[in-house]
Amino acid sequence: MALGKRVLIVGGGGREHALAWALDKSPLVETIFCVPGNPGIAQIGTCLEVDGGVAELAEWAEEKEIDLTVVGPEAYLSLGIADEFQRRGLRLFGPTNAAAALETSKVFAKEFMTRHRIPTASYQVFSHYEEALDYVRKEEFPLVIKADGLAAGKGVTVAGELAEAEEALHDIMVEGVFGEAGSTVVIESFLEGEEASVLAFCDGENFVTMPAARDHKRAYDGDQGPNTGGMGAYCPTSIITASMQEKVEEQILAPALKGMAKEGRPYVGVLYAGLMITKAGPQVVEFNCRFGDPETQVILPRLQSDFYTILAKTVAGELEGMELEWDPRLALCVILASGGYPGDYQVGYPIEGLEAAAAMEDVIIFHAGTTRRGGQIATDGGRVLGITALGDDLAGAARRSYEACDLVRFENCYFRKDIGRREEGIHR
Ligand code: AMP
Ligand code: GLY
Repeated sequence: MALGKRVLIVGGGGREHALAWALDKSPLVETIFCVPGNPGIAQIGTCLEVDGGVAELAEWAEEKEIDLTVVGPEAYLSLGIADEFQRRGLRLFGPTNAAAALETSKVFAKEFMTRHRIPTASYQVFSHYEEALDYVRKEEFPLVIKADGLAAGKGVTVAGELAEAEEALHDIMVEGVFGEAGSTVVIESFLEGEEASVLAFCDGENFVTMPAARDHKRAYDGDQGPNTGGMGAYCPTSIITASMQEKVEEQILAPALKGMAKEGRPYVGVLYAGLMITKAGPQVVEFNCRFGDPETQVILPRLQSDFYTILAKTVAGELEGMELEWDPRLALCVILASGGYPGDYQVGYPIEGLEAAAAMEDVIIFHAGTTRRGGQIATDGGRVLGITALGDDLAGAARRSYEACDLVRFENCYFRKDIGRREEGIHR
């Protein structure tokens, strides 16, 4: 009999806990390692620090005879972790540095979409502050201003008026608040519609789409306040009907995959299309080269097919004809954050009530910014926990998730009270 598989997960947030949770369910998987992991992941695998960069990680994986490595955060992908593992003949789930350009360079992504006629907002690229300023002074508002490079999700300003656009350009191009990432900006037209995240497993040639999820990016109820990494999500969303999904596959995913292969950057991993569903059809707001967070915390709890097999087939280029099974129930996740996030916040507060919440039926607690201090779990980041619940409908999933949220307590805990409510509005 073949030995059980040894997997390594890179990252330590709620998304990586969800990846570990789904892999732990696979009968094929024997051992889960996570670098650096978190106390939630430590309940199902071994969390450890590996000093150094991608070369040291690859060396470690080789030594430990890891069968498959799965990468969460984009930063590692942009450092070429997939290239390094490939060079050593190690199996890694995630795109090469060249393929990750779909996320790591907004200019590349926009020009790529133009070349392959993938629907997206019209745009202009600027490397000189004065020229960008001249342009926004002549345009109508709202306008969207984006730093070219990775900016930890903070590089986008939706400017409702000229003064906001001028301030954003000054911050990015003169003050250099995002460093090199802001030496070039994309200025694009504002898209009106409903947002959804469609993620697909891609093996370089074929793709298999996951059910669409909806993120809640703004910090406060009613989609107010600053952008965050995501304050909650649910899956599926009725915004992506079966016929809309077909459009997304035909107009976006298929040409993207074909285009990347043709340009010598075959795309292997998860391609995440951040979409605006407009009157004119689906438009790409952004591509990400990885699993979404918190989307993964609502997608994977619904997956009934074997997760290890999907990842292994993706890496092997064997996705053709693959069909995935999904739990018909809905999943909804509420993020418990440290008060003040995405701005300044305090950490180190003990967390109470985790066992009681985790004991609830159809509730899963995913750890993100937590740490272990002696025998106690304490807060250690902006997004602290993701509380996912399954339900027969969205209201049921929301009720259960919020019941679990009420059992968990830590000082300065903040969470949105309206996850999923907008969707209920769409139904009405
Ligand atoms: P991004 O980091 O590119 O996903 O942008 C962050 C958020 O800004 C998105 O989730 C949208 O809500 C908003 N956004 C970005 N681009 C546009 C656009 N062209 N039109 C409208 N909203 C946008
Ligand atoms: N939830 C947004 C992201 O993962 O980028």
